[in-house]
Amino acid sequence: MLEFLSVCEQAARAGGQVLLDWQNRFTTREKGLRDLVTEADVASQQAIRDILLGRFPDHDFLGEEDASFPAAIKTSPKSQYRWIVDPLDGTANYVHHLPAFAVTIALQKAEETVLGIVFDPIANELYHAVKGEGTFLNGKSVQTSGCTSPEQAMVAVSFAPNVPRGSIEIARFIEALHSCQSVRRLGSAALNLAYLAAGRLDAYWATSVKIWDVAAGLLMVEEAGGTVSRLDGGPLDLNNPEFLASASQPLQGEMLQILSRVAG
Ligand code: IPD
Ligand code: CA
Ligand code: CA
Repeated sequence: MLEFLSVCEQAARAGGQVLLDWQNRFTTREKGLRDLVTEADVASQQAIRDILLGRFPDHDFLGEEDASFPAAIKTSPKSQYRWIVDPLDGTANYVHHLPAFAVTIALQKAEETVLGIVFDPIANELYHAVKGEGTFLNGKSVQTSGCTSPEQAMVAVSFAPNVPRGSIEIARFIEALHSCQSVRRLGSAALNLAYLAAGRLDAYWATSVKIWDVAAGLLMVEEAGGTVSRLDGGPLDLNNPEFLASASQPLQGEMLQILSRVAG
């Protein structure tokens, strides 16, 4: 595992450096309505892929920028190991020069996430988690806040790039605004989960994200003492990740109730 971690860190830092190098010269196009992509996304993924597959040529690789979703998620594996990469999570922030974006890489063994990294190149913060070994920020062990009450909680949500009028997502957001201390939409699913693991956020939910956005971060939350479930309380399906994650079991229970007050 140590070698996997070290190569993964090298790849995440290389991807982060590519994002910094492109910061003042990228052009932007829309993959879908309000769903942005730049040369930096593609170049970062190339750098990450070169390092990971250069060292582990037999492993599988799923990167957002070459995934024809959902087919790529379910291709037949050639290895029990699969690297899952979002080379730039928070592209809209990146495009607007808001310093809240990250590289995120997860390693799955037989479909179980065993390693995850989220790297914020602006803050130079590298979060990593190893299954059974905890979560770390720049090498230092971190835990969730342990917050148990919505009234004391700073919670975050991710929306799809395009949210239809009257969507249940908006109703849940309003319900949380009325029930929690503070609500944020930061624009990077990976950073939300890393922040939750490190005690900066107390809960986070998302219904529109993909496996590459959250595989690493969800491991971080669990390894830091947090709780994760689907919004109906059932076990999470990473291939269709709609979930709530909280700093503690009691907060998870309360937040599940708050979010389910609006009809599905
Ligand atoms: C997006 C971010 C955002 C989430 C979107 C994702 P991208 O990833 O994680 O927080 O709300 O659903 O698509 O497009 O910036 O990699
Ligand atoms: Ca993403
Ligand atoms: Ca991305």
